[in-house]
Amino acid sequence: MTESRAFPRFPAGFVFGAATASYQIEGAAREDGRGPSIWDTYSHTPGLVANGVTGDIACDHYHRYPEDVALLRELGVDSYRFSIAWPRIVPDGSGPVNPKGLDFYARLVDELLAAGIEPAATLYHWDLPQALEDRGGWRVRETAERFAEYTAVVAGHLADRVPRWITLNEPWCSAFLGYSVGRHAPGAREGRGALAAAHHLLVGHGRAVEALRAAGVREAGITLNLDRNLPATGSAADRAAVVRADTQHNLVWTEPLLAGRYPHTEEETWGELITGQDFRRDGDLALIGQPLDFLGINYYRPIVVADAPHREPDPALRTATDNRYAEVRLAGARHTAMDWPVVPDSFTDLLVALKERYGDALPPIHITENGSAEHDEVSPDGAVHDRDRVAYLRGHLTALKAALDAGVDVRGYYVWSLLDNFEWAFGYGKRFGIVRVDYDTQRRTPKDSYHWYRAMIAAQRD
Ligand code: FCB
Repeated sequence: MTESRAFPRFPAGFVFGAATASYQIEGAAREDGRGPSIWDTYSHTPGLVANGVTGDIACDHYHRYPEDVALLRELGVDSYRFSIAWPRIVPDGSGPVNPKGLDFYARLVDELLAAGIEPAATLYHWDLPQALEDRGGWRVRETAERFAEYTAVVAGHLADRVPRWITLNEPWCSAFLGYSVGRHAPGAREGRGALAAAHHLLVGHGRAVEALRAAGVREAGITLNLDRNLPATGSAADRAAVVRADTQHNLVWTEPLLAGRYPHTEEETWGELITGQDFRRDGDLALIGQPLDFLGINYYRPIVVADAPHREPDPALRTATDNRYAEVRLAGARHTAMDWPVVPDSFTDLLVALKERYGDALPPIHITENGSAEHDEVSPDGAVHDRDRVAYLRGHLTALKAALDAGVDVRGYYVWSLLDNFEWAFGYGKRFGIVRVDYDTQRRTPKDSYHWYRAMIAAQRD
């Protein structure tokens, strides 16, 4: 086992946690009154998810949550970030509330509290009730209102026991992978529709923050997947491509949330797709920019960006992600099983740059996801010696500590993920867990990375 002096040392009170999401682990897709979500529809559509798998059973966490909480307790984490499945609570997206759905999360929360673990709940980790998608999904403003109603129900039930609340997880994925690239549910490939979705997600966030405040929660925030975009070369064209990538990935969220404005680079990024839009209303920026108790950031990798021609020359067919840039493979870096480059320094740089840009307007940060998918193998002794994942975690926690030392106010870190799980369009082939899941038997096996993380957390308390 690694010696404790090799561990980065964090300030007293720093929160260590682990994260999961409902559709990726729960299974029990048709149990206890749960309604269908867009991910049920997407995964059951042939050809969209690798190997045709679905989240119908996943890690069967819905039935096995006591065992999973025991794993968290043994790991020694301070906090567990999970998400609540909207279609378990409001199966049709609006109308009657399903008490059995609320009961499940109440039981989970009680189990966590009994184990001495603080629950951190995400309200939307992408499983939109299908009934709402049928009425336009995030393209329409009504969905933001339904989200606020659902939030009020859940917070009314759990606010006394859940201190930390996250409205949305990675709205970039919901808006752009979901409504422009088509690689996430609902699988649309649109221009204006995706930009309207991005805006309505932000409006939904603002309305949900109001509902959380009304319920008296201790901490309310949002989780963004912010990217560190690097130019492929020093050319003016590649640097301009980075501006467009930054706008589409980062500024579309951080400018309204933290600076009360829309990005001034949006016209050069989206052209006619954004000019003349009709989905923004007076008062939206004030709603979206309400003060937050924390900003959640999910970070995995840097992105190298090069200028590229429009893939779709016909403006009428252009999607919101056809922004004249392309991702380039980073030479010389190790790549994970997702083919993502491992560059811990860019994690530090991202956080320091965010602080430089927003200064005192930047709330305290929680890293709500960080981790890696690796080509895990089960050894003859039954263990998983996932050395690459340990190196990834060590490198990124060290890089995070460097950001703290540089003056960035980071309060917590959640590893993604506690369990191997349903990795969206990649299915079960990509394993991010620090605990292995055998999907035939549902057996859980802590990997070496679990033991490393446990020792790292324990070393903080020496
Ligand atoms: C993030 C998601 C999470 C998981 C990781 C690998 O984008 O929030 O659900 O899929 O990536």
